[in-house]
Amino acid sequence: MSIGSYLNSYVKTSADESKKNKRKAKLPLVVATWNVKFATSKAWDILINGGSALDAVEQGCRVEEANEKGQSVGKGGLPDRDGQVTLDACIMNAEGNAGSVVYLKNITHAVSVARKVMEDTPHVMLAGKGAEEFALTKGFKKEKLLTDASKKSWEKWTKTSEYKPIINIENHDTIGMLAIDQQGDICGACTTSGLAYKMNGRVGDSPIIGAGLFVDNEVGGAVATGLGEEVVKSVGSFLIVELMRQGKTPQQACEEAIKRIVQKPNSDYKNFQVGYIAINKLGEIGAYSIHQWFSVTKFQNGRNHTTQSDYFNKNY
Ligand code: GLY
Repeated sequence: MSIGSYLNSYVKTSADESKKNKRKAKLPLVVATWNVKFATSKAWDILINGGSALDAVEQGCRVEEANEKGQSVGKGGLPDRDGQVTLDACIMNAEGNAGSVVYLKNITHAVSVARKVMEDTPHVMLAGKGAEEFALTKGFKKEKLLTDASKKSWEKWTKTSEYKPIINIENHDTIGMLAIDQQGDICGACTTSGLAYKMNGRVGDSPIIGAGLFVDNEVGGAVATGLGEEVVKSVGSFLIVELMRQGKTPQQACEEAIKRIVQKPNSDYKNFQVGYIAINKLGEIGAYSIHQWFSVTKFQNGRNHTTQSDYFNKNY
């Protein structure tokens, strides 16, 4: 076979493969960390009506940011040890662009500020006072984020001031969301008030591109929840997407990323939780955590449902 006809047949096979993949993909779809059916429902409404994956993940995350009962995200989030609520969030679009905010105070919808950073500035990340001032110039309203319930929890905590990560706090932690729209484009977002009673100034994985979230529209996306320090040190979400690029399924890639954490010499994994979710271009989903009770909500084929993920530590 001449080089020319070989190349022609190669191009044809690739095109056929890609058509076949498109047929197989069960789109659209949205998947999120934890039991957040209202959030995935909001995202699904956007996707099924032809909206973009970017709008879907932003609007889905906003549902949980506004939910004062959730004490790990947005308004009502648990404060740092000094009683201040500080938010971290990020977002990535299908072109590989990203925006994030860290240590944001007084603004409920951190994910939307992150999107504005991505779309309206030459930067990826804004922090603290600068992020807040930027948000105010974009029309976001200043709000008190510390609710009575979270203030009470914090006051109770100050009696011992014992600092330790709480596994599966309230069965709900960082909200991470990944979506594929009807065009087959993948976007992701995540939002959090971070570790409860953290040190003032502490920033976790959620606003760090590659750690808390990574999306590559050619391959898939991944998002993390749990103890951010461990996710940052293993660049977990980027790792998962790269493993999928090398041929692993989303499930295999999530399991490998958890193994990288628990198999470190002297890993203290029994005392903290990390969970990952991932999707690939075909709409296949993976989820895995260190400990049990990490849940995942998926809206696909018109069905919104939450399941427990598989997990590493079976020694209970
Ligand atoms: N995963 C959230 C945080 O550690 O801040």
